[in-house]
Amino acid sequence: MAVQFSAERLAKVQEIVARYPQGKQKSALMPVLHLAQEEWGWLSAETMDYVGGLLNIEPIEVYEVATFYTMYNLKPVGKHVFEVCHTGPCMLRGSDDIIAHIKNRLGIKVGETTPDGLFTLKTAECLGACGYAPMMQMGKFYKEHLTPEKVDAIIEECKKKAQTASI
Ligand code: FES
Repeated sequence: MAVQFSAERLAKVQEIVARYPQGKQKSALMPVLHLAQEEWGWLSAETMDYVGGLLNIEPIEVYEVATFYTMYNLKPVGKHVFEVCHTGPCMLRGSDDIIAHIKNRLGIKVGETTPDGLFTLKTAECLGACGYAPMMQMGKFYKEHLTPEKVDAIIEECKKKAQTASI
């Protein structure tokens, strides 16, 4: 099926574009890519081309941005994406151990998704929450002062929610 936003989403795109001066619709690219990712979970080449068409910019201009930022998923991801910060301050506070624990617990490597489609593990550069290190981003939320026990509790909570949703 062709990639196509709903009328409601298209109105949102127009609203975002209108925030910028005429002819500067490229400035709306990042928020529109977020909308697309919210809608389809990840950004396929087809989706990026669609966004480029909406903003009347070249596909390459979309790819440049989408491939630069780790927050954009260029392949399908799990329901919950763990983006563990591994920059200096988080590393000094044990992010390597947190990453190793998640890998071990979920049986996946960085960049992989569990076979049940529930979890994806990614690493990220500084997420601006160094005072709460080690930390990770999970969708719209930050999980801070991580310990293996906290990670286990987060994983269990996600699994419980998934079970409840499937009942
Ligand atoms: Fe991890 Fe800044 S280094 S949030």
